[in-house]
Amino acid sequence: MQHQLDKRTIIVDTDPGQDDAIALLFALAAADRLEVRAITVVAGNVPVDRAARNALVVRDWADCPEIPVYAGCPRPLVRDLTTAESVHGKSGLDGVHLHEPHAGLAAGHAVDFLINALRSSPEGSITLCLIGPSTNFAAALIQAPDVARRIREIVMMGGCYFTRGNVTPVAEFNVYVDPHAANLVFQSGIPLTVLPLDVTHKALTTPVRIEKFRQLGNRCGSAIAQILTSYGRHDIENFGVEGGPLHDPCVIGYLLDPSLFLGRRVNVVVETQSELTLGETVVDWNGLTKRAINAFWINDIDADGFYSLLTKTVARLP
Ligand code: BDR
Ligand code: CA
Repeated sequence: MQHQLDKRTIIVDTDPGQDDAIALLFALAAADRLEVRAITVVAGNVPVDRAARNALVVRDWADCPEIPVYAGCPRPLVRDLTTAESVHGKSGLDGVHLHEPHAGLAAGHAVDFLINALRSSPEGSITLCLIGPSTNFAAALIQAPDVARRIREIVMMGGCYFTRGNVTPVAEFNVYVDPHAANLVFQSGIPLTVLPLDVTHKALTTPVRIEKFRQLGNRCGSAIAQILTSYGRHDIENFGVEGGPLHDPCVIGYLLDPSLFLGRRVNVVVETQSELTLGETVVDWNGLTKRAINAFWINDIDADGFYSLLTKTVARLP
């Protein structure tokens, strides 16, 4: 796959969420390479109003009041909402003090914003970062299928194949919460890169890596260190990993330096019927089905390179 390292315009669709907050800071810090057009918020780790409040708080930490934050769908397309407060805490941003946001949400619904922003952008110009359940974008695509051609690439955190699930034995949280939306994304025909648990479970925190954020001496480095000190307990206890997997920041890391990642172009279908395996990402790694390729599935990372890029990038923030 050819990787163009020019400046990209991105929209980040998110459910902050501890690792989402770090992904947002990573993106906002990389202003030389990423123009963040907006942050759109979806229900996922916590209900949408709490996730939206958290996005506003993170925007304040980065001192980027000009970047609009839109609240979006309060529940998945078909299913009831499943949240992950056991992982991210009741606030969604466990471990750090949350102030009253300095400014409010942008007027309007995130789905309307997505449709209008995409329709008014040139073809193939916007990169969409999906780091929560895909509900907002799926709703936009159902309402306005023509927006697909405005998108250059979707880069999403979701799914698992070599690694087992983190919410059921076979399903990863973002895909499990809204499998119907995720499957729409996979079958949309839009260029799609996926950062699944297979890779994020290789991007683990360690005490040394966390300390490096603290040592930056800036507000955002300190917020990240505080979040990461509480983050990961759930995964360490339940999945036997040695640190907290930095899922969502892998999306931004991939955009900034794809040479840190390895993957394969494959066909992926999301299970939406079976109760037992709902939300499983069925990856045809060896091309057995001859189904058309629809995703670039990442399964490896230079974790030291990734943490060093993340640390040095957030060093630019207040
Ligand atoms: C994903 O689920 C959420 O809890 C995280 O923020 C991440 O987007 C990992 O499965
Ligand atoms: Ca997330």
